[in-house]
Amino acid sequence: MGVGTFNITSSTRTKYCAEARDAVVYLNLKLKTAAGFQLAAQSAERRPDIEFVQAAPKDSLGNEGYILKVTSKRITIRAQSRAGFFYAVQTILQFLPPEIVGSKISEGISWTVPVLIIRDIPKYFFRSFMMDSGRQFQTVEYIKRYLDFLAQLKINIFHWHLTEGQGWRIEIKKYPKLTELGSSVAQGEEQQGFYTQEEIKEVVEYARLRCITVVPEIDLPGHSEAALIAYPELTCFKKAPPTVMEYSSHLFCGGNESTYTFIENILSEVCDLFPGEYIHLGGDEAPKNDWDSCSVCLAKIKQEGLANSHELQIYFSTRLATYLQQREKKCILWGDVIENGGPRMPDNVIIYWWNYRKKLDATYKAAMAMGYPIICGTNYYTYLNFPITPWSRYKEDRTFDLRQAYEGNPSDILQPPKFVIGVGACLWTDWNVKMRMIDQRVFPRLLVLSEQMWSSKEKIPFPEYYEKVKLFYPRLDALGIHYGPAVKEEVPLRYNWE
Ligand code: ACM
Ligand code: ZN
Repeated sequence: MGVGTFNITSSTRTKYCAEARDAVVYLNLKLKTAAGFQLAAQSAERRPDIEFVQAAPKDSLGNEGYILKVTSKRITIRAQSRAGFFYAVQTILQFLPPEIVGSKISEGISWTVPVLIIRDIPKYFFRSFMMDSGRQFQTVEYIKRYLDFLAQLKINIFHWHLTEGQGWRIEIKKYPKLTELGSSVAQGEEQQGFYTQEEIKEVVEYARLRCITVVPEIDLPGHSEAALIAYPELTCFKKAPPTVMEYSSHLFCGGNESTYTFIENILSEVCDLFPGEYIHLGGDEAPKNDWDSCSVCLAKIKQEGLANSHELQIYFSTRLATYLQQREKKCILWGDVIENGGPRMPDNVIIYWWNYRKKLDATYKAAMAMGYPIICGTNYYTYLNFPITPWSRYKEDRTFDLRQAYEGNPSDILQPPKFVIGVGACLWTDWNVKMRMIDQRVFPRLLVLSEQMWSSKEKIPFPEYYEKVKLFYPRLDALGIHYGPAVKEEVPLRYNWE
């Protein structure tokens, strides 16, 4: 930090390289909405006031790093790629008064940035937030609202959990019953609905402009009751299963070749819709009761020389990962898939470590031993649906607060080995977490997690950190975020988590 400030006004002139275009558009959007003006174009007679300059490879800023230099006369931003420029703009916005992220014009404010120089590079290239749109459905507008929040926290992956036992939410042209029937299998008011392919393209583009890649999750072979109600012929016993809030043993039959054809046809459309590098194929919580008593599954186990039904899930995942490999995609799987051993899956498989509560670091160790890249998203303390104090079926042992996320998150590894590629946070909507209940669970705790995704710095003590979080509250207010309490001892008696 230096002395003085730079003042952004309607006569501030900017010049930018091609890679910085989306960043400038975003900055102008915020300025126009909150300040009522945009940056002026450069003029021939004088040097621009805000310059976006292409960095040289020797600056070693990578895909997402940037250097931001603010003097009282000028702001200079250097980056190598569009994401780097975009994150520099996010940092500038964080230094501007909080009203800059508001949705109305604020009069009488000086839009000043302090004199400083920052060189900033993220700790991980995979920084994700997951929304469960399967159990509860959120509108496209609501999803976009969250994408804008994520962009401001420099989170670059929107992990979109699109299929569940309680609802199939993605239109698949080849199998219309998936949404005709599968999107209304549960009865709640926010459990009806799906995203058309046009809406999905709209979300993907909205995210892209914010340097966010959308990673769709098609959860297989379990958590699939909604799909199997639409296509019961793909279960082991050709019978539509009941919907359940959590999970059941009614899976896609792992022995039937029709299952593989069906899923590959779905994935073909999914790969076309999502241009990003990653597809998440779920794989969690798939009890093998049905597979263990299905003659077709048992025949497949025998024919393929597999040890048991767990290895059938490895075989199942391997086939689908191989399909994705042909489509030049990586395949993310929940850790459950490798917990019982079995042969190695293809090189495009990435393991998501989540079940710390029941299995501590078993998944992490298994993935490391098998040489899979790992995303760390341990439910302790990254599952933001876990409230801070008990609510509904969430007892005390499934609660955590800002301090615990800050001090005790097993996913926050100080010096991560190379195979750890990122950190993820999830917002599950089980037990009817509706749209109006999400903000109070996600915020302020997502501030801690986004910092753990980005920053390599050593931790300051929690009380100091908490003061910084509180400085962010006016910004959350300006964003219209209905954030909840932060720490257990401050949760009012009978606080309403709904
Ligand atoms: C999960 O929480 N079932 C991934
Ligand atoms: Zn079967």
